[in-house]
Amino acid sequence: MAEQKPSAIYLKDYTVPNFLIDKTELTFDLDETQTIVTSRLHLRRNPESKVQTSALVLDGGEDVKLIGVAIDEYALPEQEYTNKDDKLIITATPNEFVLTCETMIEPQNNTKLEGLYRSSSMFCTQCEAEGFRHITYYLDRPDVMSIFTTTIIGDESRYPVMLSNGNEIERGKTEEGKTFVTWHDPFKKPAYLFALVAGDLEVLNDNFTTMSGRDVKLQIFTEKHNIDKVDFAMDSLKRSMKWDEEVYGREYDLDIFMIVAVDDFNMGAMENKGLNIFNSSCLLASPETTTDDAYLRVEAVVAHEYFHNWSGNRVTCRDWFQLSLKEGFTVFRDQSFSADTHSDVVKRVEDVSFLKTAQFAEDAGPMSHPIRPASFIEISNFYTLTIYEKGAEVVRMIHTLLGEEGFRKGSDLYFERHDGQAVTCDDFVKAMEDANGVDLSQFKRWYSQAGTPRLTVTDSYDEQAQTYSLTIQQMTPPTPNQPTKLALHIPVKVGLVGQSNEALSFTFDGQTQDEVVLHVNDVEQTFVFENVMSKPVPSLLRGFSAPVKLDYDYSTEQLLQLMSGDPDGFNRWSASQQLAVNELNKLIEQYQNGAQFSEETPLVEGFKALLADESLDPAMVALILGLPSQAYMSELADKIDPQAIKAAREHLRGIAAKALEVEFKHVYESNAVSEAYQANAEQIAKRSLKNAALSYWVASGSDEAKAAVVRQYRNADNMTDQFAALSCVVHFNLAEADELLNAFFEQWKHEALVVNKWLMLSAAREQENGLEQVKALMEHPSFDIKNPNKLRSVIGGLGQNVDAFHNLDGSGYAFLADQIILLNKRNPQIASRLCTPLTRWQRMVPALAEKMKGELERIAREDLSKDVYEVVSKSLA
Ligand code: TRP
Ligand code: ZN
Repeated sequence: MAEQKPSAIYLKDYTVPNFLIDKTELTFDLDETQTIVTSRLHLRRNPESKVQTSALVLDGGEDVKLIGVAIDEYALPEQEYTNKDDKLIITATPNEFVLTCETMIEPQNNTKLEGLYRSSSMFCTQCEAEGFRHITYYLDRPDVMSIFTTTIIGDESRYPVMLSNGNEIERGKTEEGKTFVTWHDPFKKPAYLFALVAGDLEVLNDNFTTMSGRDVKLQIFTEKHNIDKVDFAMDSLKRSMKWDEEVYGREYDLDIFMIVAVDDFNMGAMENKGLNIFNSSCLLASPETTTDDAYLRVEAVVAHEYFHNWSGNRVTCRDWFQLSLKEGFTVFRDQSFSADTHSDVVKRVEDVSFLKTAQFAEDAGPMSHPIRPASFIEISNFYTLTIYEKGAEVVRMIHTLLGEEGFRKGSDLYFERHDGQAVTCDDFVKAMEDANGVDLSQFKRWYSQAGTPRLTVTDSYDEQAQTYSLTIQQMTPPTPNQPTKLALHIPVKVGLVGQSNEALSFTFDGQTQDEVVLHVNDVEQTFVFENVMSKPVPSLLRGFSAPVKLDYDYSTEQLLQLMSGDPDGFNRWSASQQLAVNELNKLIEQYQNGAQFSEETPLVEGFKALLADESLDPAMVALILGLPSQAYMSELADKIDPQAIKAAREHLRGIAAKALEVEFKHVYESNAVSEAYQANAEQIAKRSLKNAALSYWVASGSDEAKAAVVRQYRNADNMTDQFAALSCVVHFNLAEADELLNAFFEQWKHEALVVNKWLMLSAAREQENGLEQVKALMEHPSFDIKNPNKLRSVIGGLGQNVDAFHNLDGSGYAFLADQIILLNKRNPQIASRLCTPLTRWQRMVPALAEKMKGELERIAREDLSKDVYEVVSKSLA
């Protein structure tokens, strides 16, 4: 480890900035080797600051070279400033002044992909969270908001398109014959929302008329060969703009909204004011190259970034501890948009299943943190599932507590009260409270308390009195630095189901109803339902009304009943998952005891009823057919035994496949889509059921199924069907596996995003020499370690490859550790994310835990970036 250990910063230490920057004027002289950045910052002392010093401390980076600095045109001699440890300190300053600063950066050598960097032939930026300081010296914190004017100078032939935030206000030629363009953004913003793009780009133009009748120009830019793949994103953008007007009353504010796709990007996309920058994987879509899942992701990410214009940009975060203020709320907003656009139940199942798999695992590990963390070493490590997905669940609970209308009153007040400000999660909750006259003080513990609460539910029915009571206990397990937990306010939505699947009405709180939200707010409480005519089956936590684990000892019969009969669609899925989890757990135990696997399962009966019911949404049927994933079963396990989970899943699928071969064949054949491809709910639903049925049918071992899957591969006219077939062929290792994988690469080698899918599937392929295969992929001409998408494909594929990754000899973990060490300095954000599987070492069976820990210790001996240091040291603590 480095001699000087990186240290944490704390929320409790927050103080207001001692200077403000009213205006920021930037000039970029772009060049292939050196880019010169000149900034003119209009600074003044912050009247609210209590710090009695005239010294100005600006944030910078090792990669920023200072050329010169001046105050009000007076060039400062070296003794009047210090420039070390990434800071530029001006010893004495007037109360109000213009600071001019000239710096040099080398975007072509920027492999971290934060600040200004090159992605293929273009220049682009990524400034969230603290990337702007790698461009020039600045007060790089979100509560310093400024009006930006940006001039970009470049060679017209290389960079015909030069973009920044706001409106283009001037364009011309410099004395050396270069082109300059000046952009002005009339809205003040923190530096993390700054963006610049320059390149030889193609554009798709469109426009949108806002609810007040203003015309907004919409532009999506890509490299030339991709411009035919942005129609769906443009359509998604227009639908998002309309939705935010209708559902939140929020209108777009500038005259132009631009999106640019780049290939090299650390995350999904970025909401820079008026100039969103997207990972091309979250923007480009065409039927031939893009699966349905990826279409839905494009739609959701376009919406997410657009929605940030209000929840994030117009109202931003005071400090990075408040990150969930914008991310949790915006994820909630994009989830609602997708639910309204497609099926709300299907969307909810997908989101919840992701949360329960990945966020619950994070919250049970060494990086567990509240949605508003109290401290961090490197903020980039806190763009987590907890901040995003659990943050969205917390906003959703507020929505549940206040109702649609009350929530809207709250959000209206929030946006109006705080427009143009940098605020806190407390401000958000306060607006919700004030608009509704409610007290959310206990509820606010969700913001400061980490860990997933566990609800234990027991019940009893009194036939004589016709009363039914539910006793609910809550317990949140200890997490790092939080050994004891307080009781939370948890909304639990409940319904009662009668013996013949009818919704049983009841009297609760003096009112007759058939569904109620219980306010669980103590360690143990009993809720009594009156006038319950017969013994009910409780349908608990409908719609997943709170992000908790629920224990109620359902019998198999009750689960089968809920699975087919719960009036709440979400809980039909929930019941099917619980049933499958129970079955898998039995099989896992048999595997571990060296016992024979049972050959029967009640799941067959449940699936049979499901497949026969043609009134159901095919997408729901597909979701219910999906067995709990390897990752979800790992999250539930006491000690994770990857081989046992894998064997149990394969076996359970095999039983169902053989018992229902005829049914799966029928469902496969009757859900073919004959119309031209469209990424709409109806077609997506049919394809998902068809392909789910196909994989079971193939799992039955039927030769007819094997022929059908190869036929589907060859005849497919869309990527969803082609890739589903290929995945089946590879997963079941059919005779055609090698041939089709090669054919797929040959067909798509010029489509980077499809090649990424090929990389992932190839890396995930379980074979004798799995790890060698992965190593070969990293030597393949189509691989590029500088490109995060490709790295995520190969390493992600390896992670799914149980035999290769969890090899008892530790070779899979050692290989991952090698990659982390390789990327540690080159791209710390990505290196740190790659650590995730190793951070779970304490959850693994002992033999694997030891190997993982050994690799973490090996990484810890390197000279680590802050990003990797934080994750590795917390994992070993
Ligand atoms: N704010 C972005 C979002 O919409 C997140 C993001 C994009 C990001 N790029 C990043 C965060 C780079 C950290 C580093 O979710
Ligand atoms: Zn976001």
